[in-house]
Amino acid sequence: MNEANDFDISEVDWRVGVFDALSFPTLILNTDSTILAANKKFYERNNATKTQIVGRTCKEIFSEDKSLKHLSCSGSNCPLQRVLSSKANQSVVHKNVAEDGEIVWEERVFAPIFGSDGEVKYVIESLRDITKIKHLEKKYSDVRELIDKVVQSSVSAIMAADRKGEIILMNKAAENLFGYSVQDANLVNIEDFYPPGTAREIMKKLRDKNIGEAGKLPSTQVKIINKKGDQIPVEMTAAIIYEDGHEAATAAIFNDLREKQAVQKKLEETEIQLFQSEKLASLGRLAAGVAHEINNPLTSILLYGNLMREKLEANHPLSSNLSYILEDAERCKDIVKNLLAYSRQTRPAKNIFYLNNLISESLRLIRDQKLFMNVKIIKDLDECQILVNADKNQLCQVLINLIINAIDAMEGNGTLTLKTYRDSQAGKAYIEVSDTGNGIPQENLAKVFDPFFTTKEVGKGTGLGLSMAYGILEENHGKISIKQTGPTGTTILLELPEEKVTNGFQFMSIG
Ligand SMILES: Nc1ncnc2c1ncn2[C@@H]1O[C@H](COP(=O)(O)OP(=O)(O)OP(=O)(O)O)[C@@H](O)[C@H]1O
Ligand SMILES: [Mg+2]
Repeated sequence: MNEANDFDISEVDWRVGVFDALSFPTLILNTDSTILAANKKFYERNNATKTQIVGRTCKEIFSEDKSLKHLSCSGSNCPLQRVLSSKANQSVVHKNVAEDGEIVWEERVFAPIFGSDGEVKYVIESLRDITKIKHLEKKYSDVRELIDKVVQSSVSAIMAADRKGEIILMNKAAENLFGYSVQDANLVNIEDFYPPGTAREIMKKLRDKNIGEAGKLPSTQVKIINKKGDQIPVEMTAAIIYEDGHEAATAAIFNDLREKQAVQKKLEETEIQLFQSEKLASLGRLAAGVAHEINNPLTSILLYGNLMREKLEANHPLSSNLSYILEDAERCKDIVKNLLAYSRQTRPAKNIFYLNNLISESLRLIRDQKLFMNVKIIKDLDECQILVNADKNQLCQVLINLIINAIDAMEGNGTLTLKTYRDSQAGKAYIEVSDTGNGIPQENLAKVFDPFFTTKEVGKGTGLGLSMAYGILEENHGKISIKQTGPTGTTILLELPEEKVTNGFQFMSIG
């Protein structure tokens, strides 16, 4: 019989009772890997007796026994040897597919038992079924993976920082919003992602019990700073992450507001434009009604007045009074004409002409050339001859009014710039009339196209120039707008459809 078989553990130590009470199958091994003792659980598990186990090496037992075979280890990777050399605990995990197909995980844990000389005298080996733990670990790592995927694929930017403000998490959307990769972001403190003082303010609000739940920041609009230094408006929510009741980190979710704000601005602009054009349309109907009503009596006044003038002798005492009547009636006729143009009651007589010619003709047509005495005129005309198909006389009227408005705004002293250009892709032709006058005050901007709106003194302006221009441009499929205005001057923009030259086009007919 092997010497080891004489080893009776119950005589070695009273703690043997404890050994048998262990809930794991356990062995005590000699340093040469022979089994000195096995506990009750071990015998039960292997359905073996002491004589079948004790005295043999663990390698023999593990390789012969069907239920233990999967636990045998290769000689080069003997955990017992590792315990002897390291004098520390060692373990090996084995995966086994049971007969019913279930996957079972078992761990063999080896621990040294030291002698009084400090050397490893025996080694205790326990077999532990860790299948449940392994399943939990797997579930945990699956959940972690899923959370990771959810965080990474979120369209909202998600970021977390530790107590020192160092970034510990940044999803793809956050990388895009802030312009940093996770690696770069590690070098930046959370405070640098906001304008000065904002991060501190956010932390204050997060801890404030009166703002939302303590440790939570309800949806708030702030600005963040990206890598390029641009300030971006965002809507954010944030929360403090606690560990054992202590603040461990802060997490925040951001949504870029740029697109939303741009859409909102566009919507507001469209609403204003809609309101403006509805208002102008109803004013146009009113103007047309008034103009028609006045037109007939006015025609009679002018007709009979002129007949009377023919009959009166030149030095008749009433002839000067009659001249005043006729002059004012002519003025009324002009007003009616402008009102009809504004309300689009006059049909445009369209023809094709060069836009640059319109500029020079309009300048020539301004009767009172004294107006330009102290005005520098810059003509910045497009080199390519731009063609338009419109009522040239009507557009001359528009330009003359814009030029006179510009000169009035400069009080006869400044620079008038007339510019033509085109966008051939969009098929548009443009004229800009710019002055160095004192601009249109903000409060008047929405009113300048209204008929009879004028800031000029009585008798100087009727307030019909821009409204007439508005009507004429609409009638000619164009647009008039204030491109820019301020204390250093105003630019009015006219837009017309560009006429494309076709092969059969008669150049001779161009005006
Ligand atoms: N270039 C400009 N700079 C500053 N204000 C302007 C300019 N153009 C127009 N305005 C303002 O818009 C108002 C309306 O202009 P609009 O041409 O319709 O009428 P008006 O010049 O006052 O009179 P009318 O043209 O009938 O003689 C002007 O009274 C003026 O206050
Ligand atoms: Mg005017």
